[in-house]
Amino acid sequence: MNVATTSHDAASGVKPVRIGMFGLGTVGGGVAKLLLSRRDIISREIGRPIELTKVVVRDLHRTREVEVPAELLSTDPDAILEDPTIDIVVEVMGGIRPAGEWLRRAIRAGKHIVTANKDLMATEGVELLRLAAEHGVDISYEASVGGGIPLIGVFRQDLVANEVQSVHAIINGTTNYILTRMAQDGADYLPALAEAQALGYAEADPTNDVEAIDATYKLAILASLAFRTHVPPPQIFREGITKLRAIDFRMARELGYVIKLVAIGRRHKGADGTADSIELRVHPTLLPKHVLLAGVNGVYNAVHVQGDLVGDVLLYGRGAGSGPTSSSVVSDIIDIAHNVNAGVSNRVPFRVTDNLPLLAIDDVQSRYYVHLWVADQPGVLAQIAQVFGDHGISIASCIQKETDAKAGTAELVIVTHGAREAGMRDALHQFETLSAVRDLGSVLRIETP
Ligand code: NAP
Ligand code: HSE
Repeated sequence: MNVATTSHDAASGVKPVRIGMFGLGTVGGGVAKLLLSRRDIISREIGRPIELTKVVVRDLHRTREVEVPAELLSTDPDAILEDPTIDIVVEVMGGIRPAGEWLRRAIRAGKHIVTANKDLMATEGVELLRLAAEHGVDISYEASVGGGIPLIGVFRQDLVANEVQSVHAIINGTTNYILTRMAQDGADYLPALAEAQALGYAEADPTNDVEAIDATYKLAILASLAFRTHVPPPQIFREGITKLRAIDFRMARELGYVIKLVAIGRRHKGADGTADSIELRVHPTLLPKHVLLAGVNGVYNAVHVQGDLVGDVLLYGRGAGSGPTSSSVVSDIIDIAHNVNAGVSNRVPFRVTDNLPLLAIDDVQSRYYVHLWVADQPGVLAQIAQVFGDHGISIASCIQKETDAKAGTAELVIVTHGAREAGMRDALHQFETLSAVRDLGSVLRIETP
């Protein structure tokens, strides 16, 4: 697509809103395409001409899906940072360095910021928001979580009267695609991953997605909005999807569950005047098949919020890709341009004020699914029940599946009532020492949002 600037801005005599953009990849390409091809519509919406003034990239000679006029491209960040006529800096290059430093320079120079960068906002967002408030500029990051789904604005404005009780989110499209394939077609993990890579959903190195690192960054951002609490992503408990097996999906289905990678945030009310605390965790989770999130399939994302006033809210849509993500970025640009027009900033101030303590993962309560193979002998079930009992874990149901006469083993699926994570971990360690336990298969947490 070839798009070029025109002189209508000069002709109108009205000072345009000028945009400088770092990055012209999947997201930046989509944003450039929108800013250039829908410029008239966007300008009408803003009430002033909008102009993409400069785009900074790494490689000037790379072939791109969107053809931006050569004079707009540069590899020099100062082409944006030192240009006093640029009002809004759009950062869609990713990573923490140098993006963070460039945005701090832009803020100090009085430029407003729009970013899609979850890594940066999850780790340095609080500092960037504070710096932006000090310098009277706005920073918007709607695209950083859930791509095209309106989320950040919903928390900052639409749900602000609520005390948020919990957030359950499917916020990684790549893993949701893989898990959907495993559930619907009985695929094993590696073939499902290979298919996601062939379709361009998963990267060549899929670690960030499949080890739930990406979802942890996004949960950190959601937690800052929902609970006004900053938790550095490394402090959030996470487990990836790489150890899930086809048999777990078959068992889950038989028991009436689906398996999803769920990011969970929950407020715990302090008793007798003590402060509230929060739990944050991301891991493969059994969801009862009747809950709304259980029906979120493929690359789709969804966030289920429970507020004390509003009750249940579900936000659903495409969490990635050029179109959905640039939809959010351009909406942020338009919103900031309205503020620039009105001569205001920080119209909807956002501060991380509460900093509630994070509940240690050992103290988190959950129900569990435990799948194991044991010796097919008298008294073995009693031993298993004894270990659980010794760790304060109550069994809700126990199903003996197949027995393998040749190997002398029986397959058990146990579902527990709510139990402390530390108790379950210690019980599992004890199972490893029992000769009757031949193979400890999967242990998955069960959640009902
Ligand atoms: P991408 O396709 O890899 O594009 C990155 C762009 O940034 C490229 O144009 C690259 O320049 C430029 N760039 C990278 N480092 C640079 C540097 N040091 N100096 C100058 N330019 C640099 O990435 P993307 O998928 O568009 O993602 C961009 C951001 O959006 C990330 O923060 C990502 O997490 C976020 N995001 C992405 C999606 C999505 O669906 N892709 C969804 C939500 C949020 P060259 O083109 O010259 O290499
Ligand atoms: N890798 C991410 C996902 C896309 O699969 O959801 C951008 O956040």
